Amino acid sequence: MNVFVIGANGQIGKQLVERLKQDGKHEVTAMVRKQEQLDEFKANGYQVVLGDLEGDVETLKQAMSGMDAVVFAAGSGGSTGADKTLLIDLDGAAKSVEAAQANGNIKHFVMLSALKAEDRSAWPDSMKPYYVAKHHADRLLEQSGLDYTIVRPGALTDDAGTGKVNVDNVSTGEIPRADVAAFLAHVIGRQEAANKAIDLVKGDTAIEETI
Ligand SMILES: NC(=O)c1ccc[n+]([C@@H]2O[C@H](COP(=O)([O-])OP(=O)(O)OC[C@H]3O[C@@H](n4cnc5c(N)ncnc54)[C@H](OP(=O)(O)O)[C@@H]3O)[C@@H](O)[C@H]2O)c1
Repeated sequence: MNVFVIGANGQIGKQLVERLKQDGKHEVTAMVRKQEQLDEFKANGYQVVLGDLEGDVETLKQAMSGMDAVVFAAGSGGSTGADKTLLIDLDGAAKSVEAAQANGNIKHFVMLSALKAEDRSAWPDSMKPYYVAKHHADRLLEQSGLDYTIVRPGALTDDAGTGKVNVDNVSTGEIPRADVAAFLAHVIGRQEAANKAIDLVKGDTAIEETI
């Protein structure tokens, strides 16, 4: 599959595109938002396009031309306010879904969400704008008519990847970004993962044995 990664310069995004390139199972195109990032990705042998989630849907649609699958791994990050949460985590995700719908050829949309995004009762007050954004982005995707997989990891860490996770009866927990990237790579194009939301924390099951 031709896989389009939105948020490719992020901590998970970078590990995901690297893994996809190494695996050689899919062709990967990275979307980044700055010229210097584009130059760096090109220098490292990646297919790469410029795209800004604060831009318009038509530009995103054109950037997705020729793609079969989309991974949304972007986010506004912890150092910006609720305004950027709304613009990137919610509207940026919504625009990506709209662009994928308009593209007409996207066979799989993989959303990097967050554990408990579906459960309003679990949202701490300080994080409500973030969870509202993730919750509604996920719902838009579920209702989009696209084949989707929503991946909801627990708290992200920079620990070394283990290649093992837990996806069953998850209530809380953490997970290395490396394992989230490996899991995203695992589900892309996988029919068994279609139209599912999957909670993800560290665990004892080899990623290849899940789903
Ligand atoms: N932190 C947690 O514990 C946790 C738990 C569960 C889920 N998550 C989710 O996982 C996501 C990914 O995590 P991460 O650590 O990889 O995040 P990250 O390093 O902050 O990566 C986010 C990426 O989104 C990109 N981005 C931001 N605004 C953009 C825009 N306007 N247009 C295009 N790209 C834009 C950033 O671009 P630049 O590189 O240019 O800044 C960055 O590359 C988070 O955003 C969050 O939604 C987080």
